[in-house]
Amino acid sequence: MAYKVTMRFNLLRALAPVFTAVSCTLLSSCGLAVMMSSDPAPVLTPVQPAPLAKNVQYVAPTIKAPTLVNPSSSLSSDISGNTQISWSRGNPNQKYIALTFDDGPVTSNTTRLLDMLKRRNIKATFYVLGNRVQNNPSLVKRMVAEGHELGNHTWTHGKLTNMSDTKVRWELDKNRDAIVAATGIKPRTMRPPYGALSTRQRNWIFKEYGYPTILWDVDPEDWKKPGISVVKDRILSKTRNGSIILLHDLHSVSVDAVPSTVDALLRKGYKFVTVSQLIALSK
Ligand code: NI
Repeated sequence: MAYKVTMRFNLLRALAPVFTAVSCTLLSSCGLAVMMSSDPAPVLTPVQPAPLAKNVQYVAPTIKAPTLVNPSSSLSSDISGNTQISWSRGNPNQKYIALTFDDGPVTSNTTRLLDMLKRRNIKATFYVLGNRVQNNPSLVKRMVAEGHELGNHTWTHGKLTNMSDTKVRWELDKNRDAIVAATGIKPRTMRPPYGALSTRQRNWIFKEYGYPTILWDVDPEDWKKPGISVVKDRILSKTRNGSIILLHDLHSVSVDAVPSTVDALLRKGYKFVTVSQLIALSK
C-alpha cells in the first residue's frame, strides 16, 4: 500500500509540468498557471524603456522616383538622301543617341525589354535574325506597332566576309523577306554579324539594297555576360552625343541592365531615337 501511494505521488510530481503547460495553453494568462504550480513565483525584472537617442532626426522614408520618360519626337526616319555607307556614330553636336539590340527576338527577353522601353517611351532599333523573326512574328509586329525600327542582321548570323556575294545576297534577302512577311515593312539598314564586312561588300550592299552598314561606338561586351553593373558602367562611361549603343536581347543580363542604364542616360539629358532617325539628323 505504501508502495502504491509513493508511486501515485511520484506520478503526480511527474505530471505536474504537463498540467502547468496545459494550463498555460488553456488560460489566457500564464500568471495563474504559475501560481497553480508548486514552483516558486518567478522573480520579474522590470523592463526599462530604452533611453531616447540624442540628436536623432526624423528620416523620411525612401520613395521611388517616377520613371523618367524619353521625350516624344516626330523626327524623320527618311534616309533616302544619305550617301554615307558606314555609320558608327551620329551627329556629335546633338544629344541624340540610338539604342540597338542584336540577335533576337527571343520570346522572354525581348518581351520584357519591350515592356521596359514602352514604360520610358524609348524607341530602339532591333537587328533581328531572319530565322528568329520567322519563329516570333508577333514579337516583331509588336516592335513596329510600338515605334521601334527593324534592321537586317542576316538569316543565319554567319560571317559575311567568308561568304560569296551570292550567299550574302541570300542571307540579306531571307532576312528581309521574313521581316516583310511579319510586318509588311522593309528594313532600311543592315548590321553585319560580328561587325565583319569588307569595304567592297559595304559598297555593293549599299548600291543594291540601299542599306548603310550600321556599326557602333559603344560596345559594353554584354555578350560576355560581365554582370549588370559592368554593362551599365561601360555604357555610361562611353556614351556621348550621337552614340550608337550595341546590346543583345539574346542575353537576359543585357536586358536586366537596361532600366538603370537608360534611366541614367535620360538623367544626363540624352534622347533616344532610332538608327534611321539618327542618320536623318546627321544629314
Ligand atoms: Ni549579332
